[in-house]
Amino acid sequence: MDNERYSCIPLRYAENRLAEDVRQGLTASAKRLPCKYFYDPEGNALFEQISELPEYYLTRTETAILKGHAASIIEHCPSGLALVELGSGSSTKIRYLIESCMARQSELTYYAVDISPAGLENGTRQLLHDYPHLQVVGVVSEFEEGLRYMAGEVGGPRLMAFLGSTIGNFTEDEIARFFTMLRRHLRQTDRFLLGVDLIKEPAVLEAAYDDAQGITARFNLNILTRLNRELSADFDPAAFRHRAVWNQAKSRIEMHLVSLRPQRVRIADLDLDLEFRQDETIHTENCHKYSREQMQSLLIDHGFQVLGCFSDPQEQFCLFLAS
Ligand code: AVI
Repeated sequence: MDNERYSCIPLRYAENRLAEDVRQGLTASAKRLPCKYFYDPEGNALFEQISELPEYYLTRTETAILKGHAASIIEHCPSGLALVELGSGSSTKIRYLIESCMARQSELTYYAVDISPAGLENGTRQLLHDYPHLQVVGVVSEFEEGLRYMAGEVGGPRLMAFLGSTIGNFTEDEIARFFTMLRRHLRQTDRFLLGVDLIKEPAVLEAAYDDAQGITARFNLNILTRLNRELSADFDPAAFRHRAVWNQAKSRIEMHLVSLRPQRVRIADLDLDLEFRQDETIHTENCHKYSREQMQSLLIDHGFQVLGCFSDPQEQFCLFLAS
């Protein structure tokens, strides 16, 4: 790692709430687990595989939009820009924005905000190699703390990217909270770039979340293995199966883990014994899909001005640029 051009800011992020969240979720009448717990090292690796699946069009499509429109996105931003990516993951898609920025300014700082320090280092290593005038700051934190840090640290205009349709995993309340917090931290010269997956054929959506190779099934079931390891639980992942269904009324894909038989599970660290009926499910994730108009209204309702909307020819995915 080029230490001259890479620095890591290990902000203290919200204390580990796993035990509390699991107790709350699995003792509720409709059992649930927060989807953020998918992302242990195995979950991160499986998500990387998902993003390359033929059925999972999201990553490919968003990447193509960025490739085609990065120059135009950057044109809508003031010069002397810094790039910020919230939830930077493998930092793959951001390179199109980096290139367009660097065509206009000789130096650039990229702030990658993510909760995984190892992921930050791995994701940004290649960028440092490829762009000798790039500075990278890895900010280890959750979004809110990262934004708070950035407000004090970065003086000039910033382009804040929130890609991958991660917004789709938020509830309505979480979106309201996130947009309100962003509004509080954004300055007039800043821009916000939001990746949103659009509503489409249910069959296409269900295939994207239930692929033929079963990678998404492994990704979903991996959360049980994590609970076994981190909370001394005795889930038998083979006694559950993955289910992904389109909920038309709520405009979302729902992922569940379905109990294949009546069973008892003990979570020793929580001193908790759980009963599962056959076919009872643990609801693990929601992936909301929006129309362009719906997301545009949401942004406007939260006080953003929409400067542009960039899509692919089939209108599968959309990038909103707002200020
Ligand atoms: C991270 N997030 C945007 C993904 C999605 O599409 O909602 C997570 C995912 N879950 C299953 N496949 C991918």
